[in-house]
Amino acid sequence: MRRRHAGVLLILQLQIAVAACCCWGLEVGYYGATCPDADAIVRQVMERRFYNDNTVAPAIIRMLFHDCFVTGCDASLLIVPTPTRPSPERVAIPNQTLRALNIVNAVKSALEAACPGVVSCADALALMARDSVALLGGAAYDVALGRRDALHSNSWEVDLPAPFSSLDDTLRHFAAKGFTADETVLLFGAHTVGAAHCSSFRYRLARPDDSTMDESLRCDMVGVCGLADQPAAADDAMTFLDPVTPFAVDNAYYAQLMSNRSLLQVDQEAATHAATAGYVAYYAANPDAFLQRFSEVMAKLGTVGVLEGDAGEVRTVCTKYNTS
Ligand code: HEM
Repeated sequence: MRRRHAGVLLILQLQIAVAACCCWGLEVGYYGATCPDADAIVRQVMERRFYNDNTVAPAIIRMLFHDCFVTGCDASLLIVPTPTRPSPERVAIPNQTLRALNIVNAVKSALEAACPGVVSCADALALMARDSVALLGGAAYDVALGRRDALHSNSWEVDLPAPFSSLDDTLRHFAAKGFTADETVLLFGAHTVGAAHCSSFRYRLARPDDSTMDESLRCDMVGVCGLADQPAAADDAMTFLDPVTPFAVDNAYYAQLMSNRSLLQVDQEAATHAATAGYVAYYAANPDAFLQRFSEVMAKLGTVGVLEGDAGEVRTVCTKYNTS
């Protein structure tokens, strides 16, 4: 009899465990009961900022990538250095050119005013990226929510691919995060908006024999950036990644790649590499397919390595942990 009770107890415990697990996981409408206006609040702040300065939208899209590819989409990127924890992700070299980080705080303050302690910074960033894509003319997509914020952030964990990484290494890197070659090419399509500092590509300009860069682009860029063996310009100029339509999520960037007109070496390699050239040509020729698939892959990017359930915390201020 006692044995039977123990068995029933075990089954009950298992059911409770399964019930707990079943309710974790990202979900569209996650804040329906606890912060029903979360979507609208984020969109309102983003729209106001964007109409004042449209360069914030590409900056946010890039921010999502830099957060999600390092320990998952957990807002670990947003933590600022303190005397006791002086080296969060933000100080790592690839993150030093991120822009508009302060907007996340503005969005979070608006969320906190409406529903204190409810919406995580990681979810806020995912929604901001979705709104950025839409504001730049991309296709709307649903964002499943319920991410939690990280309790640690370390610069030494930042291992983002560099613009001079080989495409083979980069494809491996993206595959390890769950992305196929097709999806990786789609994510490169984010470079259809925004800008790069000369320091990200100037090393390519001193190579006139580098047939992977169109000669007229090289000459223009020498004019903007100077040459790498000259003393660095005091201000590291920025130039559009897709000068044709720098504020439109569209497939124009792929046409740039096919004409050797990408500033970033790794993107350029995608136009000729056997594993990716077909996708580049396909998206260059199919604008609607790109728009649709780009939004799908952005939604997927936002789910990489998320913290769920009672892992991590919901930060009150995105730039610092709740307890120091
Ligand atoms: C191999 C992968 C990637 C590399 C090496 C790379 C590299 C870069 C570099 C060097 C810049 C210019 C930064 C600067 O000089 O200020 C940049 C900008 C940008 N990247 Fe990427 N990127 C990659 C993937 C992605 C992905 C997956 C996304 C998003 C889905 C993304 C979105 C952007 C955006 C929107 C900008 C413009 C940012 C702005 O205007 O501030 N990148 N990227």
